[in-house]
Amino acid sequence: KIIILDFGSQYTQLIARRVRELNVYCEIYPYNKLPELTPDVKGLILSGSPCSVRDTDHPNPELSGYRGQVPVLGVCYGAQLLAHENGGEVLPSTIREYGRALLAEVHATNRLMKEITIGSQVWMSHGDTIKHIPANFEIIASTDSVAVAAYKIADEETYGIQFHPEVTHSVEGKTVLRNFVVHICGCSQDWTPDQFVETTVADLQNQLGNDKVVLGLSGGVDSSVAAMLIHQAIGKNLYCIFVDNGLLRKDEFETVLDSYRHMGLNVKGVDARDRFYSALAGISDPELKRKAIGRVFIEVFDDEAHQLTDVKWLAQGTIYPDVIESVSVKGPSATIKSHHNVGGLPDFMKLKVVEPLKALFKDEVRLVGKTLKIDDLILTRHPFPGPGLAIRIIGDITPQKVAVLQEVDHIFISNLRKSGLYDQVWQAGAILLPIQTVGVMGDERTYENVVSLRAVTSVDGMTADWAHLPYEFLANVSNEIINKVKGVNRVVYDISSKPPATIEWE
Ligand code: XMP
Repeated sequence: KIIILDFGSQYTQLIARRVRELNVYCEIYPYNKLPELTPDVKGLILSGSPCSVRDTDHPNPELSGYRGQVPVLGVCYGAQLLAHENGGEVLPSTIREYGRALLAEVHATNRLMKEITIGSQVWMSHGDTIKHIPANFEIIASTDSVAVAAYKIADEETYGIQFHPEVTHSVEGKTVLRNFVVHICGCSQDWTPDQFVETTVADLQNQLGNDKVVLGLSGGVDSSVAAMLIHQAIGKNLYCIFVDNGLLRKDEFETVLDSYRHMGLNVKGVDARDRFYSALAGISDPELKRKAIGRVFIEVFDDEAHQLTDVKWLAQGTIYPDVIESVSVKGPSATIKSHHNVGGLPDFMKLKVVEPLKALFKDEVRLVGKTLKIDDLILTRHPFPGPGLAIRIIGDITPQKVAVLQEVDHIFISNLRKSGLYDQVWQAGAILLPIQTVGVMGDERTYENVVSLRAVTSVDGMTADWAHLPYEFLANVSNEIINKVKGVNRVVYDISSKPPATIEWE
């Protein structure tokens, strides 16, 4: 495997995903928690950082356990750090070094630069530049304005690159990464979905034996794939619970439950709509809604888990981005963990936890799901928030408002599907606003609710742009909603991006 040392760059996870796309397994560690070198580690990548090596307290971990033992690649800050610590000179750049640049000189004989072409576009994003390199460093690539775009340390498989190979704007960036992890580090490219399923199922069989496992399904990708993996390993000893909280999309509970049964899962559908509605009655504050929903879910799940006997494990669909320890390189540490009050936990949370997707990125979860032949309807589904439609109804929740929003949402989503736009959008839904406006229908004046449609494009939900859906499409959806959904006489489209707005309205 490859270790990626994180210095707080926004691109660290992207480096990891690119390496994984080369079918090579890698793990991210905070810069101050580099594990000891073990035989399975074939190389080390140092990420970029918002810091400067000229800052007095710049992150500067001890790398002597790795350098000279396995190949090392410094990216941006990582490259500057290696140069700086070895007697080179790093200065603020006098010219703008953001954005695209073209490689003007490339040492084609160098292994890192193999098959990299002169004129190839690379992506720079840094405020510092390496002005002078130490005597034992050799320049292996330059651009017109950056002499040291890439270097190698003599007698050591240690490299530095000033550009970001992980972003798609660096057109041959993936080749650079392949050269490093495959040719220089010698990693075998066996990190594939098939391989993952095979080893994980075997591991789960060992770990779980004849034990019973309980798992909460949400209809989303992660819990569904986790369930199918465990199901392959232990079959009917996996007990799935799927709760209808009354805040799902139209007909979603029935359709998804049906798909799960077709997939052979041992699943119990629990209608808990009334419990959620009564807990939510009169609550308008978004955070209080979330808390109430979380609390009732735990209560319902605990009640159900108690009806099973001898359960030993709680399975969860946790994925890698949920467990990567984030680093705080500027300001006080933000990673202070709250302590769990074990005594106060519901019983099912005292079970041993099994998380078979803990090492996977979202795109890898989908690939594994495909290998497991999970229904496309589940795999390609947009993300949907845990609190569901509750945070898309501004103000308090009533079953009537939910029913109205379900109809609106259904018209929007099914039209996206019909027009082939569904897969081009990262997430879409509708928001029911607590305002009434005047309209006219036939000869009558109406006074009804406004709904807003929301559709965004995004990679991971951290940033998003509003989806530029065709006017024709929006016109048709608006018409259909106002004509068919009683209680709605006006439709607007949200054209805010994130940041500064968020995807959801609450
Ligand atoms: P925002 O609104 O923060 O949303 O831009 C980013 C992504 O997170 C989802 N989201 C939630 N998911 N529980 C969830 O499970 C929540 O409370 C929650 N709030 C927002 C949102 O749908 C989007 O995909």
